[in-house]
Amino acid sequence: MEKLSEQQALALLRRHAPSEASYDLLLRHVQTVKEVAVRIARQCPGVDVDFVRSAALLHDIGRFRYPPGKGSIRHGIEGGKMLRKEGLPAHARVCETHIGVGISREDIEKQGLPLPKEDFLPQTKEEVIISYADNLVAYDVEKDIDYVIDRFRKELGEEYVRRVKDQHRLVRGWMDVR
Ligand SMILES: [Fe+2]
Repeated sequence: MEKLSEQQALALLRRHAPSEASYDLLLRHVQTVKEVAVRIARQCPGVDVDFVRSAALLHDIGRFRYPPGKGSIRHGIEGGKMLRKEGLPAHARVCETHIGVGISREDIEKQGLPLPKEDFLPQTKEEVIISYADNLVAYDVEKDIDYVIDRFRKELGEEYVRRVKDQHRLVRGWMDVR
């Protein structure tokens, strides 16, 4: 996986920000996601913690073009495009796969989502950990898994509750190894 220092990741984020205010707003969120993701990553054997750090900082870069609201589900794929242009395909994958518990081709077809008909599911441990940490963070506040389950139940329904519980078990399983 490509190497990017924390300083390089922040410089990249700033360069793509349309304004200082939007940079500051996003930074508060991604800093918290980074802290949670790095803490989890350190407890999982075989995880590239440095990659988790830079990728967590960049996971929402597409938000600069698709802020919360209409079409915001496209912020993952847009962030992927931006980072591929920067020569960062592994970081791009994190953008593309971090939304919720990942979005499958079947989700896209069934729900008519405005996305290419492909799987956008986190696959590597690093991708899963960032998606999981992002779910645990409400803007810049860390929550617990019960909060996440509750939110998924209200917003997305039981199928997604099952999927977020699976994600929780998967990550906790890695953390239990040592
Ligand atoms: Fe996020």
